[in-house]
Amino acid sequence: MAAYPGTFDPITLGHVDVVQRGLKLFDSVIIGVAENVQKKPHFPLETRLQMVSSVFATESRVKVSPFCGLLVDFAKQSNSCAILRGLRAASDFEYEFQMATMNRRLNTSIETVFVMAREEYTFVSSSFIREIHNMGGDVADLLPAGILEHLQKNR
Ligand code: COA
Repeated sequence: MAAYPGTFDPITLGHVDVVQRGLKLFDSVIIGVAENVQKKPHFPLETRLQMVSSVFATESRVKVSPFCGLLVDFAKQSNSCAILRGLRAASDFEYEFQMATMNRRLNTSIETVFVMAREEYTFVSSSFIREIHNMGGDVADLLPAGILEHLQKNR
């Protein structure tokens, strides 16, 4: 099992791509939806959980769980041997390197595994999607089915 953490505010096809790549490497993936109050998420935790769960409703190898506190503790509690992260561009590397190194310091038995995002999604981020949608831009092809409706409701 690998733990894939994020805020998912909202989940995008970029995140789905990372999970699908993770499923090629691990028997199962647990998606940790971070409460992340410091980031002041747009969607409440309950809605973010609902959105992520709906996307993977038919995938038995994917579990979804909320988490607060340290990521390494979430990984350990969920019996994950690894933390799964996606790299979109070189600019992600520095932050990811710092996070992976810090997490290894906190728990040496959990490895961080990176997968390369699909080219089409290298520029995608949740806040860009929210901003573009709020200004009337079309983001439908960057979102899993059903997520656009959540954006429309919570504009
Ligand atoms: N496809 C699409 N978007 C992606 C992406 C991908 N492959 N990878 C990252 N993103 C986007 C996210 O949507 C997010 O966009 P936003 O900033 O517009 O919301 C942004 O890139 C940053 O994503 P990410 O790096 O995953 O950050 P996050 O805020 O979603 O999650 C945690 C960060 C939860 C993993 C991190 O804060 C954490 O581990 N917290 C727990 C506390 C802890 O253990 N701290 C110590 C860490 S060393």
